[in-house]
Amino acid sequence: MNHSPDNESFGFIQITDCHLMDTPHSLLRGLCTHFTLRRVLQHIARHHAGEIDFILGTGDYVCFPTERQYGCFADAIQLRADGPFPGPRALGFAGLEDVPIYLLPGNHDGNEPFIRCLFPGSPVPDSLDFAFTHKGIRFICLDTPRYVMRPLPHADLDPMCPSSMRLLERECAALPDDAPIIVAMHLPAAPITELPWAACEMPSDMDRAWQILEPKNVLAILHGHVHATKERTVQGVPVLALRATANQWADGAELIPTTQRPHYRVVRIRDGQFSHENVEVDTEWGNVDLERGVPMNEQGFAEAGGSAVEHLFYNEPPNREF
Ligand SMILES: [Fe+2]
Ligand SMILES: [Fe+2]
Repeated sequence: MNHSPDNESFGFIQITDCHLMDTPHSLLRGLCTHFTLRRVLQHIARHHAGEIDFILGTGDYVCFPTERQYGCFADAIQLRADGPFPGPRALGFAGLEDVPIYLLPGNHDGNEPFIRCLFPGSPVPDSLDFAFTHKGIRFICLDTPRYVMRPLPHADLDPMCPSSMRLLERECAALPDDAPIIVAMHLPAAPITELPWAACEMPSDMDRAWQILEPKNVLAILHGHVHATKERTVQGVPVLALRATANQWADGAELIPTTQRPHYRVVRIRDGQFSHENVEVDTEWGNVDLERGVPMNEQGFAEAGGSAVEHLFYNEPPNREF
């Protein structure tokens, strides 16, 4: 791996919402998420391998937090080397060998299987938040509530994991106000006009988080979960959501899945300045017919169960070559 030439300039990549399933051939809403994740990594390897210091995942690596699904994720990225949480672990994916990867959990991830499968031997903390410094930038990675089957919209918002709020308070108290910070989290840090349902997915104490961050030099907040690339500015801070490596959600009040192409985000830091580029990947999977009547959201998962869920998670060999 080529490292950037000085202490202030480097690049990294954000990927999010991989939603791996039971086998490399499993289809989620008609999409083989193992295949599309590998296509995204292949694109990164071809076009950005030489300019990035690490990859940052912002959660939802699996659909349901089972060892089998984490095994499928580890297989897709060819996860290498052991080490305690938060790592970084190393990739073995062709063209990205030994590139470090940081893995922040999403609401589909679960503490024990996440640690057991991706950081074997590591103690299982109650909260999977962490912080690290890379070439003068402090990365604060917050653990937001994790749930899989939960009705939408939520009647009550969940607060951020308490230890994440403590981490945020501690970090912001310790850092000089001009110290550059990048915050990463899974759930949205602010509403998204085009995705009104996402407002009820924000941590309930996000206002408190914004108060803590207000005097700080926050370069950006990166998040996942909404399976859409949406960019807005809050308190002068870019808040950047990213398309999944799996299916995307269409704009609108309802959760309507699409097979829009995945994005990954290339972030570049030059002399403490943040810039980014969202790269679209043609996975060559193409569009698929989505059956009517199939439950398309977590409420549907929770209510349907059994045979109805099988329609969502059917397994058949993909008809595409990697
Ligand atoms: Fe997701
Ligand atoms: Fe999510």
